[in-house]
Amino acid sequence: MTALLSINSLHLRLADGKELVSNVSFSVAPGERVGLIGESGSGKSLTAMAAVGLLPDNITASGSVLLDGQEVVGAPERSLNRLRGSAAAVVFQEPLTALDPLMRVGAQIASPLRRRLLREGGNPGKAGLRREVAAALAEVALPEPERIARAYPHEISGGQRQRVAIAMALSCRPKLLIADEPTTALDVTTQAEILKLLDQLVRERGMGLLFISHDLPVVATIAERAIVLRAGRPVEEGPVGKVLSNPQDQYTKQLVSAARTFDEALEGRS
Ligand SMILES: Nc1ncnc2c1ncn2[C@@H]1O[C@H](COP(=O)(O)OP(=O)(O)O)[C@@H](O)[C@H]1O
Ligand SMILES: [Mg+2]
Repeated sequence: MTALLSINSLHLRLADGKELVSNVSFSVAPGERVGLIGESGSGKSLTAMAAVGLLPDNITASGSVLLDGQEVVGAPERSLNRLRGSAAAVVFQEPLTALDPLMRVGAQIASPLRRRLLREGGNPGKAGLRREVAAALAEVALPEPERIARAYPHEISGGQRQRVAIAMALSCRPKLLIADEPTTALDVTTQAEILKLLDQLVRERGMGLLFISHDLPVVATIAERAIVLRAGRPVEEGPVGKVLSNPQDQYTKQLVSAARTFDEALEGRS
């Protein structure tokens, strides 16, 4: 089966030649859930941005990124635009990056929804689109979808905003969902709820998932396989249970023991 995402010898460099990401290779098969782990600054977000061709202007990619069979490295913006959304959609750490503060939530979801429905040959009309928006909000388990649709982003909670951002990403029916630290900005209870929601949605729809986090135990709850990045280089890859229970690389061992110490500290506190 062709991979949804296939990254091969990816290097990301600044103009002065400094490498931020070096020789990263991995793939995500349809329906597969893969974790990308590493501490802050290890190159996770840049790798994710490279996967969908959204790198900052000052960074150059070399190597190959095949997204749904199409080369992303060096591709013109026009063809990337077509690919984004239908092949892959991204959920970011901070839901406000995805949301326009001056636009009602419903209107923001309506525009990608409408584009997809038109692409599929349908034309929902105004009332139909409103129903679709409410259904999209209900799918991410938001209560009172009609009320949320009329709200502005600042009028709902952080967890609700992340649910809206997930609904927006899903509205394009992507084959691959890239979630870049989607729960890091949320409190622990909300984190667990959003993780559960993502897990459920990805399974129900048979989507591929690239789940990015600095938090190994969190990755273990949702991914089957994990890749560990350190300072832009891959240091370990394998089934997530094995990476967690029997890390081979020194850096992964440190990540695992740091997570344990943190858990123990939390338990000791309560
Ligand atoms: N536009 C940029 N220009 C220069 N350096 C950058 C840029 N974006 C990220 N970096 C650097 O690249 C490294 C990897 O960043 P990033 O992928 O955001 O890490 P992570 O997501 O793992 O925390 C960091 O050292 C960061 O400072
Ligand atoms: Mg990041």
